[in-house]
Amino acid sequence: MIPFFVAIFLLGLSSLATAANFNQVFALTELDYEWPSEASRAQALRDGTFKPENVYPRYMAVYGTRLFLSLHKDEGIPVTLVSLPTSSASPKLTPFPSRNMHGPGDCDKIEEAKGLEVDSVGRLWVLDQGSISSNCSAKLLIIDLANKDQIKIIHRFPFRRWLHDLVLDETPDGTFAYITRSIEQNIVVFSLERNESWMVDTPGIRAYAIALSPKDQEARQLYLSEWNSNQQFSVSVAALRNGTRTANLNPIGNWTAISSFRMLMDNHGTMYAAFFQENHIFSCNTSQPFQEQRFHQVAGVYTGLPFTFALDQSGTFWMTVFDDKKKPRYRLLKATVGAKSYTFEASQVSE
Ligand SMILES: *[C@@H]1O[C@H](CO)[C@@H](O)[C@H](O)[C@H]1NC(C)=O
Ligand SMILES: *[C@@H]1O[C@H](CO)[C@@H](O)[C@H](O)[C@H]1NC(C)=O
Ligand SMILES: *[C@@H]1O[C@H](CO)[C@@H](O)[C@H](O)[C@H]1NC(C)=O
Ligand SMILES: *[C@@H]1O[C@H](CO)[C@@H](O)[C@H](O)[C@H]1NC(C)=O
Ligand SMILES: *[C@@H]1O[C@H](CO)[C@@H](O)[C@H](O)[C@H]1NC(C)=O
Repeated sequence: MIPFFVAIFLLGLSSLATAANFNQVFALTELDYEWPSEASRAQALRDGTFKPENVYPRYMAVYGTRLFLSLHKDEGIPVTLVSLPTSSASPKLTPFPSRNMHGPGDCDKIEEAKGLEVDSVGRLWVLDQGSISSNCSAKLLIIDLANKDQIKIIHRFPFRRWLHDLVLDETPDGTFAYITRSIEQNIVVFSLERNESWMVDTPGIRAYAIALSPKDQEARQLYLSEWNSNQQFSVSVAALRNGTRTANLNPIGNWTAISSFRMLMDNHGTMYAAFFQENHIFSCNTSQPFQEQRFHQVAGVYTGLPFTFALDQSGTFWMTVFDDKKKPRYRLLKATVGAKSYTFEASQVSE
């Protein structure tokens, strides 16, 4: 009996150590776009170009008082990249950077936004995988949030479709993006200075969720997990920056859940992970041998589809919770964690 109680006690302690207090910003049954007019909204509902029941936020980034979401591309989802205020209890989804920048079949517009990241100088990086029906290649855009939201297509990849998520490696010698594609046994490396991208093979592993160790950590590590697996891998980025074409991923441990959708590192080296079919957010301290902790549980939600989250510049962890089966379907939660995203040095004090 005694070891049993001791185990419970220790479990309790470890969850206390990592628990965060989340506050609810909104809880809504429906998320709607901001429309040019009531008539255009009514028309879109009538002709099926807008189906509110198909709104599902999948990727998230935060900058200042604005939150950015990529929505799952589905029937009736005319715009996949939107912004909303961080403080509203009933926000509208504003097409970002403008409604005019969205549409299928025009390779200079956003067709299907996926992973989002904000860099250390306030630029939003957006992956766009292109639509099924068009011939547009996948591309990478940068929107300068600190400078009138100026948008620039910075790279077109030599392939169409299948992009998942990205992380940014800002070094004194240039900025790299590491990008996962979900169906291929490779990742994509992009060098901003050289405007070049290349594939790096990851033999036997289809990397899906991705995270990067903090900026000021020596021997920066990339963390990858795989679709339909609970295995966690790491690899040093030095070779990736240098142009290697094959990465040998080191297995570092296993999560209890499978199919991590989104991972995120803070600037103290805590890595957070959200999974399909799981209402827990797990975390682990990457400065120690791999050990999973329970960071937060959203009780009573059905979660076939994973939550998504982001850290802002002032130490707040933002999370959308999606419940496919009951109302409210959409929630935005926030918690003060006192850590920023991995793109900031740990020595920088939170505001
Ligand atoms: C895509 O390219 C193929 C081959 O070049 C062409 O036949 C097809 O019409 C194009 N589709 C669109 C939607 O442009
Ligand atoms: C970068 O490369 C893309 C092709 O991927 C090209 O369209 C674009 O013009 C290049 N940008 C610059 C600044 O050279
Ligand atoms: C990367 O390439 C540079 C220049 O070729 C070389 O000096 C350096 O040792 C390489 N680093 C790694 C980790 O391969
Ligand atoms: C993790 O899972 C893999 C695949 O199921 C297994 O081979 C490996 O031994 C596990 N590792 C640990 C540390 O449990
Ligand atoms: C993570 O582990 C390191 C090394 O043991 C420790 O110094 C640090 O405080 C830990 N971080 C957290 C958030 O517990």
